[in-house]
Amino acid sequence: MGGGSKRNRGPRHLSSVVRLDRKSLWTLNAVPRKAVYGESLRKFSGKEYRRWEPHRSKLAAAMLRTAYDPALLLPQQGETVLYLGAGHGTSVSHLHDHLCGQDNRLGGRLVSVDLAPRCLRDLTFLAQKRPGLVPVLGDARRHEAWGVLIPRKVNWLFQDVAQAGQVDIFMAACRRFLAPRGMGLLSLKAASERWTGEGEAALFAEVEQRLIEAGYDVSESIELTGYEDHHRLFVVHMPED
Ligand SMILES: C[S@@+](CC[C@H](N)C(=O)[O-])C[C@H]1O[C@@H](n2cnc3c(N)ncnc32)[C@H](O)[C@@H]1O
Repeated sequence: MGGGSKRNRGPRHLSSVVRLDRKSLWTLNAVPRKAVYGESLRKFSGKEYRRWEPHRSKLAAAMLRTAYDPALLLPQQGETVLYLGAGHGTSVSHLHDHLCGQDNRLGGRLVSVDLAPRCLRDLTFLAQKRPGLVPVLGDARRHEAWGVLIPRKVNWLFQDVAQAGQVDIFMAACRRFLAPRGMGLLSLKAASERWTGEGEAALFAEVEQRLIEAGYDVSESIELTGYEDHHRLFVVHMPED
């Protein structure tokens, strides 16, 4: 085997913070010596990283499954992004490592919306040590209640709400908050949608068709089975104005 392939097997930086080591993703820990959800901590070149578990995070699973460069699925460091369905903060914590870094040295802003008070309690606890993380107790369908927190359109929007009507919720949020050519990522849970009797493949095909008909450029539809069964992640871009 040549030296080039050996080099390819070593850790590879996706950003100054995210690295891929063989089949595992790691983010530079913005809060050293603290794990968020029991993930492993490990040093690379003297710096502490947290393992980004693909069985716990659909974004991590998608990054390991994408046919393209996984870095393309991430927002730019230091920008403002919107995350709908933040849960207890598993994925959000890694995104925060990437977007903001320790003491928010990168100047990012991660607006994280969830409907459940229990999730907000955990997100608020996380935000105490992670400036730039903005927890919002709110309904992804009711922009009027929290939309003021996003005064300018963003270039990156992620949705993982696992409730009926996921596509409509996503398209409405993109229309309101996503900038022209901005990237929207929709994690779709088949079981949350009304059962049509035609199976998951038909449901996913129908969702893709709806997104295309609405004018989105669907650049990838990533199968998450194995990491998260009955889920697919759609990557779309907003049309130009
Ligand atoms: C699968 S969990 C999210 C996990 C999280 N994205 C992660 O990777 O760590 C789905 C979350 O969506 C939230 N949710 C469901 N419907 C919602 C809505 N209409 N608005 C905001 N959050 C919602 C739930 O409370 C739940 O925390």
